[in-house]
Formats: sequence, C-alpha cells, structure tokens
Amino acid sequence: MKTLLKLNTSIFGENGYSSRLTQAFVARWLAVHPGRALIERDLATTPVPHLTAEVFAGFSAPPGERSPAQQAAVEASDALIDELKRADVLVIGLPMYNFGVPSTLKAYFDYISRAGETFRYTEQGPEGLLTGKQAYVFATRGGVYAGVSSDTETIYVRQLLSFLGIRDIEFVYAEGLGRGDAARTAAFESAARVIEQVTDTSRLAA
Ligand SMILES: Cc1cc2nc3c(=O)[nH]c(=O)nc-3n(C[C@H](O)[C@H](O)[C@H](O)COP(=O)(O)O)c2cc1C
Repeated sequence: MKTLLKLNTSIFGENGYSSRLTQAFVARWLAVHPGRALIERDLATTPVPHLTAEVFAGFSAPPGERSPAQQAAVEASDALIDELKRADVLVIGLPMYNFGVPSTLKAYFDYISRAGETFRYTEQGPEGLLTGKQAYVFATRGGVYAGVSSDTETIYVRQLLSFLGIRDIEFVYAEGLGRGDAARTAAFESAARVIEQVTDTSRLAA
C-alpha cells in the first residue's frame, strides 16, 4: 500500500508554520489517495537521542556483541529505518533555526544513516539504498534565503537525502514569515499553490 511518512520538527508543534504546511500537504495527498497509509512522527516532541561513539559502534557490531544499551539503540534505529523503507513519500517540515536545520532533524538523520541499511559502500563510492521514493520538504523561514548561497539548509537536506538514494525531492518554501502579516499571508498562499500543483492527480504516481 502506498504510504506517506510525515516528519514534523517544529518546536511549536502543530502550530508551527512548517507543521501547518506538512498537514495541508497530507490532507490533499490523502484526498487524492483515499485509503492510503499515513505514518506521523514528531521529532520535536519525541526526539531521537544524539549519536554517541558507543551507539555508533553498536550499529556495526554483531548482535551478540552489543551491550544492552547498544542493542536498544539499534532497535530504535531499526524502527525508524523500517518506517522510512515502508514510505513511498516522505514529507518533512523544515523550519530554519539559527541558520540551520532543527537539531532534532540532524539527530534523526544520524540515526537513520547506517551502512548496510540505508546506504552501502561500493568500489565506486557510497550508494543510497532508499531508492524509488519522493520527498517533499516544507521549508519555513523568518527571512528569505531560497536560491542564495546562505541557504545551507536546502543544500544539506538535499545532499543527505540524495546520499540515501532519495533524489526526487521538491522543496516548498514559505519565507519572510517574520516580515509582517502581509508577507506571511503571501508566503502561505504561494506555498498553498505549490501544494495544489504537486498533489495534482496527473503529477502523483498511482
Ligand atoms: C530559535 C529560533 C531561531 C530562528 N532562526 C532563524 C534564522 O536563522 N533565520 C530565519 O530566517 N528565521 C529564523 N527563525 C524564524 C523561523 O524560521 C520561523 O519562525 C519559522 O516559521 C519556523 O518554522 P516553524 O514555525 O515551523 O517552527 C528562528 C526562529 C526561532 C524560534
């Protein structure tokens, strides 16, 4: 069954602008694909722990040689990766906090980027294993950065997802949210138009 995984990361929960956009996308997607599966994960309310050397060592240790703490971390990582593997469509709410991605998203990426699971090393270099998926990233910012070199968020998220094999990525921006009501309304209307376009039945795979 076609499955959508929604990852929210706003510290403002469902009131976060990125969360409102991911929800708007999900509502449209489910309307277009009735009966399809939705997995929701809020990394702000249920954060993934920071990666440690012990946990990282546990990721590559044989099961019988892991400490209980390493085993628990591997099982948590496996569960996150299983969600990702089940998803055909990945939707990420991406606020900008202090010029970067929410630290909760970075911690999540550190837990799901695992050799042999989501990528592998080959003689030609690393190869992503999460192929055949689409990603929609809803980037919300107080300022305006899309398309300029200081938008390191877009570069980083695209690079990380591509590394894992997810190359079909659409970034939807709502920017200037800190520049007053008119700018905020315009940003939301623009993002809503993109959501309408990208969820158009003719563009969504069956
Ligand atoms: C702690 C914090 C740091 C922020 N840093 C930036 C920033 O570096 N650049 C920017 O344009 N906006 C910044 N903002 C504004 C947010 O990007 C904006 O409020 C956006 O709506 C956040 O998405 P959210 O509402 O989904 O949480 C910051 C907001 C907060 C709360």
